[in-house]
Amino acid sequence: MLRSVAVPEPAALNKNYKPFSHEVYGETNANLVQFVIDSQAITSDDVFVDLGSGIGQVVLQVAASTQCRAFGIELMDVPAQYANAYGPAFATELQRRGCGLRHETTLIHGDFMKFAQLEEATVIFINNFAFPCALSQQLGAHIAATCSAGTRVLSYKPIVPMRKRQTKAPQRFGFELPAGSAVPLWVGAQEEEHGLVKIGCQASPGDGVSWMSGTVDCISYVLR
Ligand SMILES: C[S@@+](CC[C@H](N)C(=O)[O-])C[C@H]1O[C@@H](n2cnc3c(N)ncnc32)[C@H](O)[C@@H]1O
Repeated sequence: MLRSVAVPEPAALNKNYKPFSHEVYGETNANLVQFVIDSQAITSDDVFVDLGSGIGQVVLQVAASTQCRAFGIELMDVPAQYANAYGPAFATELQRRGCGLRHETTLIHGDFMKFAQLEEATVIFINNFAFPCALSQQLGAHIAATCSAGTRVLSYKPIVPMRKRQTKAPQRFGFELPAGSAVPLWVGAQEEEHGLVKIGCQASPGDGVSWMSGTVDCISYVLR
């Protein structure tokens, strides 16, 4: 009901963007938002940020469920305009029901690369399913340069490059290579860049996103 008032023309969300680009719209459903809250153990002490927040429904659900401070930032005009209406309407409705938000939620129209309050984040969510790999990695580097140690990040696609770890064959397998040969073996993968370390990857619940019925990867990082 609230959503249909704030988002009068849902079809407009899927227009006016470059196909196969970072502007592509697609939503995280409530069951997956709950999974994010649980897997990141978000509490009222956290500061949650959704980078590329669309109409803001992830931010609003996290704020309402956990009573943490929560921010979203969205580049595109249409979802940002809808977020402008959705945020205040959601807060007013919660207040009317006697369960208002402890903190104001902030949904900003802008570029996440220039988001001043990113440094305050303790938990960052990125639905980067459609982002080009280079943009996801740029964002990872930006988070690492801006945020504090201990900041957790959950994204649907990797935000740090996967580097193969090198080891010498004898060390690994206990046999000697022919004399003079220094052939390295590539084993394992290290997914760490600028102190941003991948700590796990879980499949989301099914039907967690608006654009398909399957699961997405939920990749967790922590900034050391
Ligand atoms: C797939 S939508 C995700 C919406 C919401 N986070 C969710 O999961 O339901 C990704 C959003 O990221 C936004 N986006 C892409 N690049 C951005 C940038 N540089 N700054 C802010 N938002 C950006 C897109 O416009 C798009 O609305």
